Amino acid sequence: MKPKGHCTLTIEGKSFELPIYEGTEGPDVIDITRLYRETGYFTFDPGYLSTASCHSTITFIDGDKGRLEYRGYPIEQLAEKSDYLETCYLLLEGELPNQSQKDEFIEGITHHTLIHEQMAKSYNGLQRDSHPMAVVVTMVAALSAFYHDSTDINDEAQRLLASRRLIAKMPTIAAAAYKYSIGQPFVYPDNGLDYASNFLHMCFSLPTEDYQVNETLSKALDRIFILHADHEQNASTSTVRLAGSSEANPFACISSGVTSLWGPAHGGANEACLNMLKEIGTVDRVPEFIKRARDKDDPFRLMGFGHRVYKNYDPRARIMQKTCHEVLETLDIKDEPILKVALELERIALQDDYFIERKLYPNVDYYSGITQNALGFPSSMFTVLFAIARTVGWIAQWKEMIEDPLQRIARPRQLYLGHNTRDFIPMEER
Ligand code: CMC
Repeated sequence: MKPKGHCTLTIEGKSFELPIYEGTEGPDVIDITRLYRETGYFTFDPGYLSTASCHSTITFIDGDKGRLEYRGYPIEQLAEKSDYLETCYLLLEGELPNQSQKDEFIEGITHHTLIHEQMAKSYNGLQRDSHPMAVVVTMVAALSAFYHDSTDINDEAQRLLASRRLIAKMPTIAAAAYKYSIGQPFVYPDNGLDYASNFLHMCFSLPTEDYQVNETLSKALDRIFILHADHEQNASTSTVRLAGSSEANPFACISSGVTSLWGPAHGGANEACLNMLKEIGTVDRVPEFIKRARDKDDPFRLMGFGHRVYKNYDPRARIMQKTCHEVLETLDIKDEPILKVALELERIALQDDYFIERKLYPNVDYYSGITQNALGFPSSMFTVLFAIARTVGWIAQWKEMIEDPLQRIARPRQLYLGHNTRDFIPMEER
């Protein structure tokens, strides 16, 4: 990387030159890597509000304009014209595949959909009422105990194998977590089905009955996967990069991403959002909840609203809203009360000064819960679906980091506000 120029930082009368780098799009960055060595100062940026933690060529977001692109392709075009596995290839390889590359990639993924039988048995060691995300975190980490031949991160072939195994096995792990929670037998993957249809099959079919995957619903799920596939340096992706920077096992790194995703401020918002809409219940109660969201003394927030990066309508939310209507129409669910609540809440919030001033718009999680609920998933599975989709993003970002010559172990510094040195106090004197 060549700097496009320099800026000057003056500390206590001394000036320091800092290089400025220009991205293809988005804000330029000031390079502070030598700041501590040259000035003795750290920068202070809790929550990384102004910090680019890496350089990347995978995903671009323009939060003010509401743009999201994977490798330069707008999310709207991918959601309409691509499919999830093709999008995975794009994220991992940087370009759209030609037909034979696509066929080879799909074959490579499909070949790995089974999980080790011993691993399937290890679900029994977990309580049946565990949250499915707890089960998925555990089982993704458990992959590192089963697939020893794909854990050498310095071997490109092993990295590829680990990537394909993760993408292929996530739906199997997730569906088994669901089946385990409801006491039904695990369903083996059917490699004759596409990625989303196979997941629906593993979740909803039974050995006792015939199950036909509805094509429209499977397409809707595939689109949900595309929308969630990557989102540049969010909390879970940064977690994966941070864990991977110590050259840790890839499966363990991805498991750390699943853990971070679980939180209600991140991927857990879809579950929290549906619970909120159910709690509101009827359209006439919407103003009461808007009032609560505005109240500084009330910790309540509108779930599915607001975003660190989008200060405009989240482009994924628009596509999700359309998908939601399509799913409800296909299933002939008319007058869904929760959808009415959601539409009214959105209408009022978008006209409300509090939300306008803070640029709070619906995010992807706002309509995804209603859609996934209609597809037949309980709310505890929503974040699991997000994790399946995001696995490819985590892997693409992890791979980019491992292959980056600038990569070093991530080691943030701190502003220490604790005690100065003091002598140990013996128990009898405390
Ligand atoms: N409801 C009410 N007020 C809100 C909300 C909300 N959902 N989100 C932000 N605010 C207010 C916040 O109180 C603050 O007000 P003030 O300036 O008066 O103190 C202001 O808006 C800025 O909020 P912030 O917490 O500083 O913003 P952030 O960038 O740190 O947080 C967020 C982003 C997504 C965590 C937050 O908007 C939030 O908690 N939203 C609800 C949870 C949610 O939907 N999360 C899913 C994110 S999208 C999926 C994903 O990519 O993971």
